[in-house]
Amino acid sequence: MTAIVLYCRPGFEKECGAEIQEKAAWNEIYGYLELSKKQGLVYFHLHQSEDAEKLLQKLPLKRLIFARQWFATVTDKIELPEYNRVEAICEALGEEWQYSDLRMETPDTNDGKSLSKFCRKLSVPLRQALRKTKVLTEKGNNDGVNLHALFLSGQQVILGYSFTHNSSEHIMGIPRLKFPSQSPSRSTLKLDEAFLNFIPKDERETRLTSGLRAVDLGAAPGGWTYQLVRRGMMVTSIDNGPMAESLMETGQVKHYMVDGFKYTPMKQNVYWLVCDMIEKPSRVAKLMAQWLLNGYCKEAMFNLKLPMKGRYQEVQKDLQLIKDMFTKEHVKYEIYAKHLYYDREEITVHARLLSPVLRKD
Ligand SMILES: C[S@@+](CC[C@H](N)C(=O)[O-])C[C@H]1O[C@@H](n2cnc3c(N)ncnc32)[C@H](O)[C@@H]1O
Repeated sequence: MTAIVLYCRPGFEKECGAEIQEKAAWNEIYGYLELSKKQGLVYFHLHQSEDAEKLLQKLPLKRLIFARQWFATVTDKIELPEYNRVEAICEALGEEWQYSDLRMETPDTNDGKSLSKFCRKLSVPLRQALRKTKVLTEKGNNDGVNLHALFLSGQQVILGYSFTHNSSEHIMGIPRLKFPSQSPSRSTLKLDEAFLNFIPKDERETRLTSGLRAVDLGAAPGGWTYQLVRRGMMVTSIDNGPMAESLMETGQVKHYMVDGFKYTPMKQNVYWLVCDMIEKPSRVAKLMAQWLLNGYCKEAMFNLKLPMKGRYQEVQKDLQLIKDMFTKEHVKYEIYAKHLYYDREEITVHARLLSPVLRKD
């Protein structure tokens, strides 16, 4: 039977499962879940095999919050022999279908990390063998089909496919970012990943360019401010805590020790609002929508902290709150949320208005 395999942060399998089941049902696709607890893997077994391709075509991965990557299975779990693993994989795959790229993947666990060395080694002869039979073609454009080989151990693999245009370009959906040594906190990687994830490459030059003004709520010690400064922006950082000296010395940062819920900008020239305040997610959600509707900023990137039980329900409620506020003002908008790799008990949301607020004065 065919399944969709989804990769998420270990510990968030329940949320990832609930979400795929619900969003598949919107497309009249049904199945049952198998959660691989603490492995960051969710198997969504489909009642109708043909629904796998339909789901990969109809549901954009970027609409899923908790899934980093996904594929539809071509085989069940295959037991591999100790020798001739390449042959066994080629045989299981057959020669009917062609793929434009090979993704060697593992669960995002410590065991998975030690397996990845084995995967790297195996990928060379496997690639060669698949090329020989033309099962693996030249890496092409965005229309391709990726072949996923998910190794659960050195002896067990699942094979599957995803469409290049509707999957993450990163192995297991994980972008490996380098921690910049000048950043005052590791949180910096969250905003770096958020910009990579939500802002298309060809729009970064205009939407993330130098000279833009930004406000960072809950900024101390300055990991997020650092990402804005390094892109040449002028930043107003709001936090009662101290900001790193190195950032203040750039001359690009103004720091105010005030409450992020009370601060409002003097001029309407702020492009980015970013917010990493540790606060009730519904409070943050409401504040972000108010900033956008008041025209205080053009785009907002923020984290919703999720330390509670019922995290998927909480996220749905918070996103709905924002959407309802936008709908009430009859504005067009864009909103996406993702549980990013560098996020922990939180998700990142990007929102912007696509039409102006028409005030009745
Ligand atoms: C997770 S830390 C932010 C880390 C920061 N993004 C970085 O990269 O270094 C959360 C910050 O939010 C601040 N904070 C919490 N509530 C706040 C409020 N109401 N107004 C301003 N800052 C607040 C805290 O002082 C804390 O420094």
